[in-house]
Amino acid sequence: MNMSPILSETPRDVARALFGLSGKTVLVTGASSGIGAATAFACANAGARLVISGRDVSRLDAVFSSLPGEGHRVLPADLTDTGAAQQLAADCGALDGVVHCAGMPGQIPMKAVKDAFMHDVMNCNYHAPIMLTCRLLSRQAIRKGGSIIFLSSIAALTGTVGVGPYSASKAALIGALRPLALECVRRHIRANALCPGLVKTPFLSQGMWEDPDFFEEKNKRYPLGIGKPEDIAFACVYLLSDAGVHITGQLINIDGGGEF
Ligand SMILES: NC(=O)c1ccc[n+]([C@@H]2O[C@H](COP(=O)([O-])OP(=O)(O)OC[C@H]3O[C@@H](n4cnc5c(N)ncnc54)[C@H](OP(=O)(O)O)[C@@H]3O)[C@@H](O)[C@H]2O)c1
Repeated sequence: MNMSPILSETPRDVARALFGLSGKTVLVTGASSGIGAATAFACANAGARLVISGRDVSRLDAVFSSLPGEGHRVLPADLTDTGAAQQLAADCGALDGVVHCAGMPGQIPMKAVKDAFMHDVMNCNYHAPIMLTCRLLSRQAIRKGGSIIFLSSIAALTGTVGVGPYSASKAALIGALRPLALECVRRHIRANALCPGLVKTPFLSQGMWEDPDFFEEKNKRYPLGIGKPEDIAFACVYLLSDAGVHITGQLINIDGGGEF
């Protein structure tokens, strides 16, 4: 049987070569908190150089200080500000991966939705990551073989009471995914989306997490329990690594077996 030469190496070498990120530069948005911060840490641990972005400079600096390795950079930006997003695309340099973690919640019953709120949610969760991607691609800032990862949500596929604007913004990302993936194939750039279920981060207010009834009730409703930020970060490392080289245009549900 003809095997890839790498598979004849020791297990440690195989893991490092296939699943490691040495020599790669990765931009993580929303890196000042939750899933983005965990993703930045996991990527740095796997050997990547990080460009981390977010709005809160003090939290970004704290994440920056915690990153293993060298050569990381902090580029703060409000991605709903066109000028700031253009500046980020110009300043981040050549990238091998982008993980779009920046996002805002959008919980409100449909009958109470106002234009401004719908605009803000769509702008932050759909328009901003897609337009940042467009800007990076048009500048050829993503190297051949690069990997683009969107944080969609299981809410885009299942929806439930009170998350209409949020679900719509995350579903819009999925709509753009396959055309983007196909258009990027020529340069061997891949694009995929992750659909997490509930993950314990500041995305839901601290009060909700501190309410034992809420936590216990939610935890019981996921076969593998509520997710941790690193559960999502590990999938990002895989999709950024050479091990994920044949995966594009896909949604990956990371929802602990699905809420029931
Ligand atoms: N947690 C969940 O249960 C869950 C489930 C499914 C999907 N997701 C998705 O996963 C992603 C990360 O969520 P998380 O749970 O890690 O939430 P989080 O802890 O609240 O982090 C959100 C991040 O987005 C950044 N951000 C928000 N608006 C921004 C803007 N206009 N410009 C730049 N950055 C902005 C925040 O930056 P600053 O704080 O610096 O402003 C923060 O770093 C989101 O897209 C979310 O929709 C989360």
